[in-house]
Amino acid sequence: MTSLTSASTTQATDMQEQVSAISIRNLDVIFGNWSHDSLRMLDAGKTRQEIIETTGDVVGVKNASIEVKQGEICVLMGLSGSGKSSLLRAVNGLNKVSRGELLVRDGERMVNIAECDANTLRHMRSKRVSMVFQKFALMPWLTVLDNVAFGLEMQGIDKATRRQMAMEKLKMVGLDEWHDKYPHELSGDAATGWTCESVRY
Ligand SMILES: Nc1ncnc2c1ncn2[C@@H]1O[C@H](COP(=O)(O)OP(=O)(O)OP(=O)(O)O)[C@@H](O)[C@H]1O
Ligand SMILES: [Mg+2]
Repeated sequence: MTSLTSASTTQATDMQEQVSAISIRNLDVIFGNWSHDSLRMLDAGKTRQEIIETTGDVVGVKNASIEVKQGEICVLMGLSGSGKSSLLRAVNGLNKVSRGELLVRDGERMVNIAECDANTLRHMRSKRVSMVFQKFALMPWLTVLDNVAFGLEMQGIDKATRRQMAMEKLKMVGLDEWHDKYPHELSGDAATGWTCESVRY
């Protein structure tokens, strides 16, 4: 809940710059059996420690507002514990929004992640929002190729097609010769690279 900053760089045409990809307004994320008491204390300027001591709730994100346009790369910066992961996990619905608005583009519409139904959330997670976890998210029983293809399997794409698509991605970044290796055969940096590849669809 210490200061959290975002920086963006645009790699888009003027027209794309107008379109929001993610719109976050006055977002709070509070962990615990959060009650309106913790929101009231937050509004009254109480510290995270005071709120924990009084309510048992932990403030993960306080009053975050970020607009990310299509084509922009946005970087969240802040001290450890400032709420970067908590905010990102709200974008794919892993963390519940306690207050505020969080909209994510889905084609022509903006979906309210805090209030959408389970089917919509599943669709958003499989088609619109990808996430690389801070710790490796490679499955040890799958080869590099099948790890990269895993996201496509979740999208219901047949095995031959997804392996072909995954191989193309590996070739693009010059990692195709490792396609039949298993995660324990990779270095740490390489494993992070493949984890990134696996969410690039
Ligand atoms: N599920 C949870 N339950 C309770 N508190 C949580 C939970 N997840 C995160 N927190 C707390 O929320 C605050 C923000 O944590 P978060 O992980 O978002 O920080 P961060 O900015 O990503 O830090 P880092 O740079 O270390 O990754 C921390 O105080 C953390 O302990
Ligand atoms: Mg984090």
